[in-house]
Amino acid sequence: MDSIQIEGGICLYGQTKIQGSKNATLPILAATVLIDGTSRIENCPDIADVSAMINLLRSIGCIVTKEKEAIVIDAAKVVKSNLPQEEVTKMRSSIMLMGALIGRTKSITLDYPGGCIIGKRPVDIHLMALRRLGVQIEETENTIHAWTTGLRGSSIFLPFSSVGATENCILAGVCAEGVTHILNAAREPEIDALCEFLIRAGACIEGAGTTHITIIGVDGLQSVTYRVPNDRIVAGTYALAGVICGGEITLLETPTEHMQKIMEVIRHLGATIWEENNRLIIRRLQTIRALPYLKTEIYPGFPTDLQSMLMVACTIANGRSIIEETIFENRYKIVKDLCAMGADIEVENTKAYIGGKTRLQGKHVIAEELRGGAALVLAGMAAKGTTVVENKYFIDRGYENICADLSQLGSRICVK
Ligand code: EPZ
Repeated sequence: MDSIQIEGGICLYGQTKIQGSKNATLPILAATVLIDGTSRIENCPDIADVSAMINLLRSIGCIVTKEKEAIVIDAAKVVKSNLPQEEVTKMRSSIMLMGALIGRTKSITLDYPGGCIIGKRPVDIHLMALRRLGVQIEETENTIHAWTTGLRGSSIFLPFSSVGATENCILAGVCAEGVTHILNAAREPEIDALCEFLIRAGACIEGAGTTHITIIGVDGLQSVTYRVPNDRIVAGTYALAGVICGGEITLLETPTEHMQKIMEVIRHLGATIWEENNRLIIRRLQTIRALPYLKTEIYPGFPTDLQSMLMVACTIANGRSIIEETIFENRYKIVKDLCAMGADIEVENTKAYIGGKTRLQGKHVIAEELRGGAALVLAGMAAKGTTVVENKYFIDRGYENICADLSQLGSRICVK
């Protein structure tokens, strides 16, 4: 199993290009199942989760070919609607195929996608919403079997603005009979991208990016080519690497319109960050300022996916910080590793109290999930001495080539 080795304590100077968005690509790949024809999705990141989604699409009869910068999906022969257990449990986003497959074949059988280390990640909101659209759902201990005689538009209030449940509602609603209203919908930019793709294929959707999305069902969708936006979480990861290490870095092709809150927080940390013709420049020359209090929120708040990286920055800030995680119930997994590296962090329920003024020491640490793993790499870049982060495969789920990217920014990092 590959690990990542980092020589820490180096200021960063350099530039790197931001990859396509994982969390936009996955629901859009699922949406291609709705199209009785061929779709071409460009700028897809070459990461493990996209490969897992491609395997799922192939398992139901799609012909999928990977070109250099695009994935081409011919969904004309989608026949099967039961998903292979090993692929489903490997990746939670398989749940996205529920709405799309029911929209296309009127049924789906899949194992519960299962939680992961950051939380139980139930799918109750997904199932409630699909039932509102006329889907019959039978649940056994491990399996969900869903079918419909015909999807019918409805008004659905989401008790929590779940990103995935919003996406599943949209996927089931685009070909339903009548009008669907999704209330308290998620507003993440990845929802916008999914709706943009579907509208280009002929869907009738209004309100994407707001909490009220209206869908008028259509008879069918046409083949389309679409380029996914770049990844705001990868860009935020590298921007925080620049803050943590100090120096000046430039991120090319950054989706800054989706990063306003991230940029605001980076300014609070005492760095300067500005945009110049589609590139984002981050400069940190003074000490990092502590954050009196910051909580993760649904978009456009500070994203939960960057909470671990922000925690690393707070461990070396010039005072005490408080972070509150409000989205997932178990997203402080790296606290033990950061404390082993010398950090002073105490967790009480949803809040982490971070002492700051730490000189992190290099350590051998073990990644347990995607974003926490990336945060441990950033901690290694700040630490004195050498850090090894095991289980690189977790990080490969979301980052195309984190070592190459961070090397381009000036980090002394390599795969072991
Ligand atoms: C998406 O996950 C992202 N994944 C996550 O990114 C991201 O952290 C999350 O949205 C929040 O922004 C993809 O887009 C592939 P949710 P999703 O449904 O859709 C609870 C990464 O690192 N909930 O908005 O699964 C749930 O338990 C990943 O790239 C229910 O209770 O997130 C969680 O506490 C990690 N019942 C909260 O809502 C449900 O039916 C947010 O979940 C659904 C969700």
